[in-house]
Amino acid sequence: MPDVAPLHIVSGKGGTGKTTVALALALMLRRSGETLVCEVESRHGLTEAAGVAKIPEGQERSVTIAGQKLRMLSVDSRHALRDYLDHVRLGVAGALLDKTGFADFASELAPGLRDVLLTGKVYQAARRRMKGHPDAVDAVVMDAPPTGRIENFLTAGEALAEVVVVGPIAPQAQSIMALLRAETTQVHLVTTCTEMALTETLATIDALTGHGIAVGHVIVNQVMAAPPPLPDTVTEPALRIAWERDCAVAAEQQPWADLLADRLSALGRRPALTLPLLPDEVAPADLVRIADLLAEGWDA
Ligand SMILES: Nc1ncnc2c1ncn2[C@@H]1O[C@H](COP(=O)(O)OP(=O)(O)OP(=O)(O)O)[C@@H](O)[C@H]1O
Ligand SMILES: [Mg+2]
Repeated sequence: MPDVAPLHIVSGKGGTGKTTVALALALMLRRSGETLVCEVESRHGLTEAAGVAKIPEGQERSVTIAGQKLRMLSVDSRHALRDYLDHVRLGVAGALLDKTGFADFASELAPGLRDVLLTGKVYQAARRRMKGHPDAVDAVVMDAPPTGRIENFLTAGEALAEVVVVGPIAPQAQSIMALLRAETTQVHLVTTCTEMALTETLATIDALTGHGIAVGHVIVNQVMAAPPPLPDTVTEPALRIAWERDCAVAAEQQPWADLLADRLSALGRRPALTLPLLPDEVAPADLVRIADLLAEGWDA
């Protein structure tokens, strides 16, 4: 698909660091061109994590994170549905239907429709260059739904094509599936060194590749490296307790890191990228540091 901006879809188990990684990845990609980071109904997760002002649903803005500019968009299914209804010339009727809860009705009727409309918005953004759009971007990053939902989310177009065979949504759903399977699209999976997150990650690699959707990098976040031995001169109890706690976390994580390395190697995949557990919540300046760490191991 020439002229379609590469699409990086970031998923992972809830709370592992999807939003953090999506933002850091967008900052990394920003170094080589205009980049859009978008979320799909994540309730202002991106703006909150980036420390920027809230962006109204469905709107796109230029934001500055630690001195670096990015485009940011929050895609919401109501706006996506309204645009779609406008597109199929249901304008006023569409707005009325929407008011009467058409969005909910539509998601009951054709559960995949909502997801297809959301992905459709991201799809349009990736294709701006083809259309000579003034806000064309060179890369798109999606802060995507968690691993528990990502397979259904990304394959909604296929499910929908089976139930809706007439109208413009069917070919649109097919184009979206084609984009998701294109070599310009990759799903990156964020995990932590815990049994549950790793199990979900490995199952998701299997499921997505089964659908012909490429899994790019696996990113192990919040990794505690084994701390160096504590010199005998350190006697302060608080420091000792902190050191022992870090050693215990590192020892607990190690077997899972080893297991992941084995499984990825058995699958013939490149090793996971590792991001450290920071002492505090991730601040905007940390995102730049994480972007540097990603850049070190990133392999397009
Ligand atoms: N490497 C890290 N070190 C320390 N804290 C981190 C790290 N990565 C993420 N966090 C913190 O963990 C919390 C969850 O991160 P984030 O919001 O990126 O996860 P998520 O997967 O997007 O969560 P959700 O499933 O709720 O959308 C945030 O408070 C974030 O600041
Ligand atoms: Mg998030």
